[in-house]
Amino acid sequence: MRIVKSKQDLRALVSGWKADKQEIGVVMTMGALHEGHLALAGAAKADNDRVIVTIFINPKQFDNKADLETYPVDTDADLQKLEDAGVDLVYLPQVNEIYPKGYSTTVAVGTMQDCLCGATRPGHMDGVTTVVSKLLIQTSPDRAYFGQKDFQQYLLIQRVAGDLDLDVDVIGVPTVREDDNLALSSRNRRLSEEQRNIAPTLYKVESAIADLIRQGEAVDHVLEWGRKIILDSGFERIDYLEIRSEEDLELISDVTDRDDLLSGRIFVAAWLGNTRLIDNYPISR
Ligand code: PAJ
Repeated sequence: MRIVKSKQDLRALVSGWKADKQEIGVVMTMGALHEGHLALAGAAKADNDRVIVTIFINPKQFDNKADLETYPVDTDADLQKLEDAGVDLVYLPQVNEIYPKGYSTTVAVGTMQDCLCGATRPGHMDGVTTVVSKLLIQTSPDRAYFGQKDFQQYLLIQRVAGDLDLDVDVIGVPTVREDDNLALSSRNRRLSEEQRNIAPTLYKVESAIADLIRQGEAVDHVLEWGRKIILDSGFERIDYLEIRSEEDLELISDVTDRDDLLSGRIFVAAWLGNTRLIDNYPISR
């Protein structure tokens, strides 16, 4: 497995592979890797001749300084996991490689970003779409893999790739969960034992909401019930608990056509102490 830190070295390797007509898959991460990240690498390996994984904690997407400062870093363990997963190349740029002095361009998607995490984390989505655009240009892959755990992020990146004519397939990979259905997240490492026991409530509430809606319960009523269960379980605050379209994130309510409602997805973000957890779940499952 090759490890490179500069875009020149990255380009040299990628150009060689392209000259040999090898197809390239990329997985972008911020490190502290877990089975969710490795599922993306596995999907990339299945579809491509070469797999690149990028590890870069992108300061532009952190709206909260404490979150950036306490974001887990475990590079040696990450590299070992990627080597074991058969990854060909790890790109580990420093901040000034991505944002050199004078850097001033932002890639901002005009639609679908005023809701969910885009609304509750100012600047976050622009930070994501900017760095992902740069990493797509730098790695120039045939396919790029993103987790459906961050569903809004995945949809926005699809939009960017389409709008900017980037010649890449953006592929969504289903969420990997713990045995108790908590979605894997690098931030789970920060949970105390007590918080860790509370965290699976998000999934329980989502799946119960999906059942109730399929049974014909009213959306508003079910969401209100869900918010109460989440807060009663020990979450301090809910950023959102909503049902939205999987296509364009349009809000779904009791006036929405029943077929659209049943093809919608439940989205939740809530705080356990200083840790913000997100999850989403399709109603039709
Ligand atoms: P990060 O949180 O490290 O996640 C990297 C990729 O792994 C994302 O595509 C994310 O959706 C996916 N992922 C995380 N947890 C997952 C899970 N439990 N199951 C399946 N996939 C999962 O998301 C980011 O980093 C950044 O915003 C990034 C795209 C790298 C841009 O900086």
